[in-house]
Amino acid sequence: MSEYVLFKHLIDPEVRELAHYVKLGGYEGLKKALGMEPVEVVEEVKKSNLRGRGGAGFPCGLKWSFMPKDDRQKYFVCNADEGEPGTFKDRYIMSDNPHQLIEGMVIGGFAMGATIGYVYIRGEFQFVADQLQKAVDEAYEAGYLGKNILGSGFDFDLYLHMGAGAYICGEETGLIQSLEGHTGQPRLKPPFPAQVGVFGKPTTVNNVETIACVPDIIRKGANWFLTIGPERNNGTKIYAVSGHVNNPGVFELPMGTSLREIIFEHAGGILDGKKVKAIIPGGSSAPVLGPEHLDVAMDFDSLKEVGSMLGSGAIIVMHEDTCIVEVFARLAEFYAHESCGQCTPCREGTPWMAKIIRNIENGDGREGDIELLYDICEKIIGRTICPL
Ligand SMILES: Cc1cc2nc3c(=O)[nH]c(=O)nc-3n(C[C@H](O)[C@H](O)[C@H](O)COP(=O)(O)O)c2cc1C
Ligand code: SF4
Repeated sequence: MSEYVLFKHLIDPEVRELAHYVKLGGYEGLKKALGMEPVEVVEEVKKSNLRGRGGAGFPCGLKWSFMPKDDRQKYFVCNADEGEPGTFKDRYIMSDNPHQLIEGMVIGGFAMGATIGYVYIRGEFQFVADQLQKAVDEAYEAGYLGKNILGSGFDFDLYLHMGAGAYICGEETGLIQSLEGHTGQPRLKPPFPAQVGVFGKPTTVNNVETIACVPDIIRKGANWFLTIGPERNNGTKIYAVSGHVNNPGVFELPMGTSLREIIFEHAGGILDGKKVKAIIPGGSSAPVLGPEHLDVAMDFDSLKEVGSMLGSGAIIVMHEDTCIVEVFARLAEFYAHESCGQCTPCREGTPWMAKIIRNIENGDGREGDIELLYDICEKIIGRTICPL
């Protein structure tokens, strides 16, 4: 990569310190935003084609424009739950380049009229939370957070909130429930968080990676962002690669880099020179691809065309010795365990699916099991509160 948008610690390993971040142009985007009208900031983010990196790829600027313009208290929430199996990208932004997330939060708060922000962090990320808190304290001291930021008259407070390890608290309304102190169980939509969110007030939830793109978009302009990646899928993407590769890790690359290039050039190819059997391209919720899809461009639209999804950009690679039935059994057990239990089809259906697949894996499969699995799927889909 000639230009890192998010992984600036690869340019300067000390960028987590405020002075180093500022040297690389840090907080210039905030200064520029504070001199603009809030609606102009939203328009610039819209123009950049920045799409949500939390899973669904929803346009960020459009989401920001849904926030009401009245004088109610508004909240901007950063989703740092990072619970999707295979995903390990947001933690690096928070621990190694935390000021970029903080700057993005303040810019977003200003654009949407939100004066309070929360970062909802996965419970297991204590070390990451400590790094981020240190940066938050530094930002308060330097006047980038708190009252009258940089003399603009705009106030913004940022709080960190630790989760307690439930996957479902990554779903935005489950997250909001948890943030309010309730059991983390998703809410029916509508009403959407932009109308009724945290403490019943207008709220926007965005993923860490989405928010961390914003400072450079404002500083360098949306047109610069549009030069990276394919049309409608602009910017860089952090791909987290795990499984049967020689060099697992996180790689910031232009959106739309091919799966083949990511696996064979960046992740070092397949262990022991074996053949690829299957790839999950976007975290465990994304439909599985086969080796015939290695040339797919890793972006929202291209993956949709081949029947999968970019999701969180977590790539799980499985080679020829992998038992796919075992993988499915393991994943089905995960989802059964993480069902929050509110909806009967999900609460009852996910353990049944796990049980049937485990039976097949154990050699106790029966005629009709596959049809039964499809039948359960059809009875769950569209009949639940959330898409778990
Ligand atoms: C079951 C489930 C789990 C989710 N987990 C996460 C998560 O860990 N992190 C995340 O950013 N988004 C997660 N999401 C997506 C969020 O609900 C939400 O769409 C996202 O935070 C919006 O941010 P974005 O627009 O920037 O992508 C999850 C969604 C579902 C249905
Ligand atoms: S679909 Fe499952 S996880 Fe989602 S709200 Fe219903 S029971 Fe909870």
